[in-house]
Amino acid sequence: MDLISRMMLCAALAFCGAAVAADNDSIRLSADATKAGATINRHIFGQFAEHLGRGIYEGVWVGPDSKIPNTRGIRNDVVEALRAIKVPNVRWPGGCFADEYHWRNGIGPRDKRPATLNPNWGGVIEPNTFGTHEFMDFVQQIGAEAYLSINVGSGTPAEAADWLEYLTTSQPTGLAKERAANGHADPYRVDLLGIGNESWGCGGSMTPDEYVNHLKVYARYARNYNASHPMRRVAVGPDGPDTGYTEAVMKAWKNKTWAWDIEGLSLHSYTVVKWPPAFKATGFGESEYATMLKSTLNMESLVSKHSAVMDQYDPEKKIALVVDEWGAWLAATPGSPEGFLEQQNSQRDALIAALNLNVFARHSDRVRVANIAQMVNVLQAMIFTRKERMLLTPTYHVFKMYVPFHDATFLPVDFVAGTYKSGDIELPRVDAIAARDTAGKLWLSLTNLDPNLAVSIDVDISGMKVTSAKGLTLAAPRIDSVNTFEAPGTVAPKPFSAKAGKKLIVKLAPASITVVELE
Ligand code: AHR
Repeated sequence: MDLISRMMLCAALAFCGAAVAADNDSIRLSADATKAGATINRHIFGQFAEHLGRGIYEGVWVGPDSKIPNTRGIRNDVVEALRAIKVPNVRWPGGCFADEYHWRNGIGPRDKRPATLNPNWGGVIEPNTFGTHEFMDFVQQIGAEAYLSINVGSGTPAEAADWLEYLTTSQPTGLAKERAANGHADPYRVDLLGIGNESWGCGGSMTPDEYVNHLKVYARYARNYNASHPMRRVAVGPDGPDTGYTEAVMKAWKNKTWAWDIEGLSLHSYTVVKWPPAFKATGFGESEYATMLKSTLNMESLVSKHSAVMDQYDPEKKIALVVDEWGAWLAATPGSPEGFLEQQNSQRDALIAALNLNVFARHSDRVRVANIAQMVNVLQAMIFTRKERMLLTPTYHVFKMYVPFHDATFLPVDFVAGTYKSGDIELPRVDAIAARDTAGKLWLSLTNLDPNLAVSIDVDISGMKVTSAKGLTLAAPRIDSVNTFEAPGTVAPKPFSAKAGKKLIVKLAPASITVVELE
């Protein structure tokens, strides 16, 4: 790669410095410890849990009579694992499911709730045993906030308004009394409210202008009555690069009246190379690895593109870009039920997670919420369950390693990424972010995309004498290494430390992620 193309790649990726390193040299990373960027909102580490396959039933809900240890029907092992990654919010009940969900089916005595259908996901029976109270109990058990998606596609504004009143009012209305009779006298807190889901697709095939008409009505009537906790309303936004929804919603917001408002705009973008998803979750080679990483790095240009449109209408960045569905969407696990979206999770997917989180962190002035799809047993999951057993995926480990970045202050870093080449695909060889955590400690996350070569990072922080780096590294025997119930520890973080001699050098294994605190 010549100097000009390398500089262009740097510019496109927006995270390279001025000098250019030879491919196999160590990479110099510098930062000024006194410089501060935006806060990396902890809500970018959000999760998504849809009524889809075994995402809720078995994955979260086993019922109070189950032999699987549970608290009020919610499995304890999953709760404990999710508490450890400090999940900030959970988006529920969908996805496409949300636009066919009628909340009244999911309240009251569980044995009286109707069985309904889940036509989006395998056409299975939806027992409605996991409903509003069970979800709110679940988020409270894991210490997260609730992100509800209301039904715009097949519901009504009155249905949505009633759900919000049922959840949030402290006044003795009929709905509040019903909530109390169902076991919760105190109002709940709803932190985020999605007004529809993919209204350009499964949520109603609406044009941007049609959606905006619905948005104004729902944003008016789906009110939060819990004065002690404000609620952020999220409008449906773009599908990938198309800016139609971004333009329409932001323009409407700019010209809005007193009668409605929003606080966020959603973006959905999966790492999926072919449709229907054909890339394998295991047993893939380097070319598929590189193709998937290239595809995932598109998140940078997508976020930049939509942020630029948002800036035109909202230069003060009042409206958050909410990337509330992202992650790798791969060919389903052979033999898994149709429509259950079950896929294994490899070291490559761990890199995909880190690279996306880095993009969100770099755009933390605009991207203030994000939700990986999905939390348990579905798509790029944190956790797999098999009856009474539970397994943590490589992606889970990345989310755990990134906990120090929750609400940390972004610190710009300068480095020349170098190049990793596979066939005709050229990718940056490394990626890095830095931040100061809420206790004032300085953290680095370093990713080596090259699956063949280790790389040394020469760390130079002005304004701080760095003597050592301590943390965790996630590497694996192969790029397609996975954790299984038989071998749950194949991909697991290992302690990492480096001491500074004249300078601090951090050596990164091929295809690895390393998160260190600088001392
Ligand atoms: O996450 C699976 C599905 O992908 C969601 O239900 C939908 O919103 C998206 O198309």
